[in-house]
Amino acid sequence: MRQATGGHTPGPIGYDAELRRHNEVLRRAVGVQLHDHVLDIGCGTGQTARQAARTARAGRALGVDVSATAIERARELARAEGLGNVTFEHADAQVHRFPQERFDLAISRFGTMFFDDPVAAFANIGRALRPTGRLVMMVWQARERNEWDVAVHQSLAAAEEPVTRASGGPDPFSLAEPPTVQEILQAAGFADVAFTDVQEPVHYGPDVATALDWVRGFTCTSERLKRLDPAAATRAVERLRVTLAAHLSDDGVRFDSRAWLITAHR
Ligand SMILES: C[S@@+](CC[C@H](N)C(=O)[O-])C[C@H]1O[C@@H](n2cnc3c(N)ncnc32)[C@H](O)[C@@H]1O
Repeated sequence: MRQATGGHTPGPIGYDAELRRHNEVLRRAVGVQLHDHVLDIGCGTGQTARQAARTARAGRALGVDVSATAIERARELARAEGLGNVTFEHADAQVHRFPQERFDLAISRFGTMFFDDPVAAFANIGRALRPTGRLVMMVWQARERNEWDVAVHQSLAAAEEPVTRASGGPDPFSLAEPPTVQEILQAAGFADVAFTDVQEPVHYGPDVATALDWVRGFTCTSERLKRLDPAAATRAVERLRVTLAAHLSDDGVRFDSRAWLITAHR
């Protein structure tokens, strides 16, 4: 699964490359310490968990994800790096029985927007935190503030072949509204909820062909293309190529994006 941007299969560029600027902002905000025990929610292939483990040399990191493929890849990458203090579990963070009050930090890079019952899920994560524990996560702001989503959607939806947005299913924008998130986190037992506006570009590849390959792999893109007849799908892909070409810079194909960095205490 590779959604814009709820999950992904190994692709031509990869989520780590797409989010390199966001990753730096998150890393600084998390501020892992030498002895920390860190829980990475929806860790994907594990970049943020490995990063935490490298700093918490006298502590540990645990990454969990519902995707078995992602967890397998995360384990491979940690092994290749020789990291002995990071482990990965194939688990649903909403209901997984984490050790109680074990972690100093729960972190997530766009891995917390897909819970069926967010209050129950965050309460479950909160129970895994020590009484002084912190939650630091990055989530997307509203769809219309994210140029990448607007541009991809507009390219695929021409007037003569309107494509409606798929309704239902995982929503990468489910935590976009601060009052809603505040309510969810407070109901889940968190306090001091704070939001920082993050405006960094997403990178879709060094050239248009790579970017097209990557964006075609988004679940929302492939589903929209499947709903068109072959000729209409070819025209839609061509429009997408033109949009990506218009966003080619010296730094590759990039789009503006807006995210929230959300912090809270248990
Ligand atoms: C957008 S990806 C982000 C992956 C990773 N954090 C990163 O930045 O590379 C979202 C991830 O959340 C995972 N996910 C969704 N719901 C989950 C749940 N209930 N428990 C654990 N992981 C979940 C997906 O499988 C996916 O890997």
